Amino acid sequence: MSASVETASLLADRIVALEESSTLAMTKKARELAAQGHKVISLSVGEPDFKTPKHICEAAKQAIDEGYHGYSPVAGYADLRKAIADKFKRENKIDWKPENIVVSTGAKHSLANVIQVLVNPGDEVIILAPYWVSYSEMVKLAEGKSVILNGAFENDFKVTARQLEEAITDRTKIIMYASPNNPTGSVYSEEELRAIGAVVAKHENVFVLADEIYEHINFTDKGHFSIGSIPEIKDRVITVNGVAKGFAMTGWRIGYIGAAKWIADGVEKLQGQVTSGTGSISQRATIAALNGPMEPTYEMSKAYQRRRDLVVKLLKEIPGFKVNVPEGAFYAFPDISYYYGKSDGETTINNSDDFALWLLNKAYVATVAGSGFGAPYGLRISTAASDEALAEAVQRIKDAVATLK
Ligand SMILES: Cc1ncc(COP(=O)(O)O)c(C=O)c1O
Repeated sequence: MSASVETASLLADRIVALEESSTLAMTKKARELAAQGHKVISLSVGEPDFKTPKHICEAAKQAIDEGYHGYSPVAGYADLRKAIADKFKRENKIDWKPENIVVSTGAKHSLANVIQVLVNPGDEVIILAPYWVSYSEMVKLAEGKSVILNGAFENDFKVTARQLEEAITDRTKIIMYASPNNPTGSVYSEEELRAIGAVVAKHENVFVLADEIYEHINFTDKGHFSIGSIPEIKDRVITVNGVAKGFAMTGWRIGYIGAAKWIADGVEKLQGQVTSGTGSISQRATIAALNGPMEPTYEMSKAYQRRRDLVVKLLKEIPGFKVNVPEGAFYAFPDISYYYGKSDGETTINNSDDFALWLLNKAYVATVAGSGFGAPYGLRISTAASDEALAEAVQRIKDAVATLK
């Protein structure tokens, strides 16, 4: 049967209801324009532009030579789970044992697993917004209900403990957030997370899903704080992390959780029926990443900080853009809503989707509309590109918006 209107209607309802990932959709369009010969600057994808550090690649080669070619245990190799438990103790002050760890195919998979394992139809998942595009779709797949709580621009896009307290109901199962954040780069401080933790402590059936994938790309003086290190709620916090961002290993597809044993066991059970253990060579390489030198990671983080400074400075020069200063990750997230309702004579911009598409077609700069992140006023610009590409891209954006009246 070829793809047609009829076959599309044969898809399961849960897939029909799912949104396509907006970040991947923009990347696809940018590739198409580039294939037509246009000089596209692609700032849509959330991917480090660095290579995986050499010692990690060497460990992978060694694993191939040593014969790590078979299935791995469903929850990951024992020595990798130990390396992750050690990492949680060393860097996050969370005391997990290897039995609390499950390794999966990227942090995305880890997040989706936890939601499948904990959410019953109708359960509410409070998502601190702006949020990463996939969160709400993962909740939808589990037949849960997303409750989006927005952080104010004035509060660096962060949701307060008081806002959270007001949003919790009898149906609340999980509170979910990323810090450092994608798309805003905001970092929740220890003080803010302790206040949120105090609210969670009062609601004994509520869990926290803390996405710490950008942990190592943090430009604050105080560094990263893990809400899972708060003893009163430790057993109700599931900490998700991985190697994609901090070690430039997006394609290796390794993510992991640290969680109470019954939750880890639930994830292992699910994985045992759906994916089995993730790639053996990638797991061996991850041991080298976690136990090895951190200098390459610190160097990459320094480069992201320098680019953040450059992009923020240039974006602030664009009339009408409201720009926060990201404290981590590799994105800028200007409020571009000043331009809604304006036109270049041919195209009228009514929302962030219009803006991102117009910018791609007009200036060949690929970004991502804020709408998919629960922030329809914004535009996500990845800063994981060279200084030259970033400077050129922002100049193109500046020139393009000058035509909007
Ligand atoms: C906030 C956030 N969480 C999780 C992920 C997924 O990471 P991974 O590549 O390990 O699946 C991403 C990737 O873009 C992300 O931005």
